[in-house]
Amino acid sequence: MIDRISLSSDLSFSRIIYGMWRLSDDQNTSVDHVRAKISACLDQGITTMDQADIYGGYQAEEIMGAALTPALRNRIEIVTKCDIVAPVGRYGDRRVKHYDTSRAHITASVDHSLRLMGIDHIDMLLIHRPDPFMDADETGATLDDLVRSGKVRAVGVSNFKLHDWTLLQSAMKTPLLTNQIEMSLGHIAPFTNGDLAFLQERKIAPMAWSPLGGGSLMTGKGGHGKLRTALAALAKEQGVDMAAVAIAWLLAHPARIMPVMGTNNLSRINALHDALKVTIDRQTWFELYTYALGDEVP
Ligand SMILES: NC(=O)c1ccc[n+]([C@@H]2O[C@H](COP(=O)([O-])OP(=O)(O)OC[C@H]3O[C@@H](n4cnc5c(N)ncnc54)[C@H](OP(=O)(O)O)[C@@H]3O)[C@@H](O)[C@H]2O)c1
Repeated sequence: MIDRISLSSDLSFSRIIYGMWRLSDDQNTSVDHVRAKISACLDQGITTMDQADIYGGYQAEEIMGAALTPALRNRIEIVTKCDIVAPVGRYGDRRVKHYDTSRAHITASVDHSLRLMGIDHIDMLLIHRPDPFMDADETGATLDDLVRSGKVRAVGVSNFKLHDWTLLQSAMKTPLLTNQIEMSLGHIAPFTNGDLAFLQERKIAPMAWSPLGGGSLMTGKGGHGKLRTALAALAKEQGVDMAAVAIAWLLAHPARIMPVMGTNNLSRINALHDALKVTIDRQTWFELYTYALGDEVP
């Protein structure tokens, strides 16, 4: 069983999280199939599901919601996000893609998410992208009020830099509990640019989105020739597939990274726990880092 990461005294997430950005890209979005994917996660101890209002053109939450029975809902933690307004679906009349962290927008978005998923609370609400037009006092107070109302149990952010984090946190009483950022062997910048360091300093466990580079690490479409050869060799040695090694590389880091996996493929979902079987020591970590960097460390 996959272990858990404690985010606060009363909230923990599974070490590996299942992401639903691509849920509506699956040819099969039937209730039975979505339930089969969630069950495959639960069988391995993957209980945390990552959603966003905007996924699937504002429809992915509804697809998941249709598959949730009350019993199933009680076995999972639901993360969802808001603030991206794209001129599609329910925002089809908007002129420009933008961010909205106003009280009116966040409150309405949470109500939509609750209704579409058929649930009475969200376990964690994330502000999806930093909003350059944010009124931190208004946003912070809104998030505090949502927690007080019980509609949202906990709050976090996504794609935030340190300055975005400190600004929002300074305007709210509720502690921000995570930052969901892009991190993988295909995107190593956060390991040195301060994005991970500030979270470690605050003892905040981050989530890593696109932990397989959106699939490019596996397909080779983004290059990564030598890296993929090294991943394949380690995979063979340890009796798992390349994806398990790439995820184990994130899990091995002391920052308590929670990878958010995006596969729609049931057999790949069933194998997600393989990442826990892989041993990555310091030299192996740097071996893969070196290939990702394209050169030895200075
Ligand atoms: N906060 C944000 O701004 C943000 C942004 C992007 C994503 N996210 C979150 O992160 C989650 C994961 O993102 P992601 O889907 O990009 O993650 P990912 O796990 O890096 O990539 C998933 C993609 O890789 C493919 N793939 C996986 N294993 C493969 C293999 N062995 N061979 C070939 N292809 C393979 C999958 O195809 P198959 O389905 O065919 O396996 C899928 O298309 C999303 O669902 C979402 O929850 C958040």
